Amino acid sequence: MTDRIVLAYSGGLDTSVAIGWIAEATGAEVIAVAVDVGQGGESLETVRQRALDCGAVEAYVADARDEFAEQYCMPTLKANGLYMDAYPLVSAISRPIISKHLVAAAQQFGATTVAHGCTGKGNDQVRFEVSIQTLGPELKCIAPVRDLALTRDKAIEYAERHNLPIETTKKNPFSIDQNVWGRAVETGFLEDIWNGPTKDVYDYTADPAFPPAPDVVNITFVQGVPVALDGETLTPLQMIEHLNRRAGAQGVGRIDIVEDRLVGIKSREIYEAPGAMAMMAAHQELENITLEREQARFKKMVDQRWTEMVYDGQWFSPLKKNLDAFIDESQKYVSGEIRLELHGGRATVQGRRSETSLYSFDLATYDTGDTFDQSSARGFIDIFGLSAKTSSEREQRIHGAPDLSGAGVEK
Ligand code: ARG
Repeated sequence: MTDRIVLAYSGGLDTSVAIGWIAEATGAEVIAVAVDVGQGGESLETVRQRALDCGAVEAYVADARDEFAEQYCMPTLKANGLYMDAYPLVSAISRPIISKHLVAAAQQFGATTVAHGCTGKGNDQVRFEVSIQTLGPELKCIAPVRDLALTRDKAIEYAERHNLPIETTKKNPFSIDQNVWGRAVETGFLEDIWNGPTKDVYDYTADPAFPPAPDVVNITFVQGVPVALDGETLTPLQMIEHLNRRAGAQGVGRIDIVEDRLVGIKSREIYEAPGAMAMMAAHQELENITLEREQARFKKMVDQRWTEMVYDGQWFSPLKKNLDAFIDESQKYVSGEIRLELHGGRATVQGRRSETSLYSFDLATYDTGDTFDQSSARGFIDIFGLSAKTSSEREQRIHGAPDLSGAGVEK
């Protein structure tokens, strides 16, 4: 039987050319698999037909939007997943779900190999191949752009020579990856990190410098997951889509960073994730009132480790699963409502309310109604400071009084 290769297909120039390129280089039949994670653009049927027209023996399109929102975006929200405190993992969380669908297709169609369109310089090749190896250890991976010398110029030349039904003239200076969770833009003049982004870089967000009137949204969470917007019940996918529109109209969620790739290169990327960033602001604040102090402090470390694991392509790894278990358990009481004002590029929390809140008005108030016994603070401080005080006394015994220079009234 002829060998079969499943190709992660986007419908763009590179992967369209890769169909014939792989077939010629390997003698295998190519099965194109496109996974819809809410990237928008052309209809799935158009994409499927193009793959067939470019020579794929089978083409298959998976609508994975709800699965992506529920099983990839919501865990990212629960983990407040911001790589380098800024990037909400847009591309990093789409690679594992695409890999899962590629492995399933490979098994279904009897393929031995999975191919993807990544270069050898980025994180995505790692994410795809580590995920594929984990889910389908019997499968081989190839990357035509990286392994079969398929350059951009060769792709254009190949497409023209074979009359492939794909636009080769439209020159977009940017490399863009987008899904419902957000959008990533790199290359072109953005590679000079002194250059500011121009207006044409953005698509999910309007210019925050000229915002419409402030928009106030009320997000209801149950155990860390947003379930209703202004009282209307929504699925995770609908929630993200709604907030992308409303927060996007206010220019919320624009990010410009130079990030540390796993492969050791620093790269500049512009992101837009209006819904994700608005939800994260709300989720973090709800955690502030519902997590116990030590749990909250510890969770910050877990969140960061989770985020790095996911960025580094370890979605299906044992440690990542262990951290998921911690994070899920921590969300037990993260339920309630957050009122957010979206305006001029910012999502600002204005109100919070929860049946499971740990905030106690009677303990916190400085007005009448105070139930906190302030006299108990003295003994607490004596004991809390005792070890530092004891060691300072030793210091004074041996080296004299503490250095207070720079303080006090000048003589
Ligand atoms: N740097 C981001 C990451 O590694 C995005 C990668 C894809 N970006 C792109 N513009 N094609 O997760």
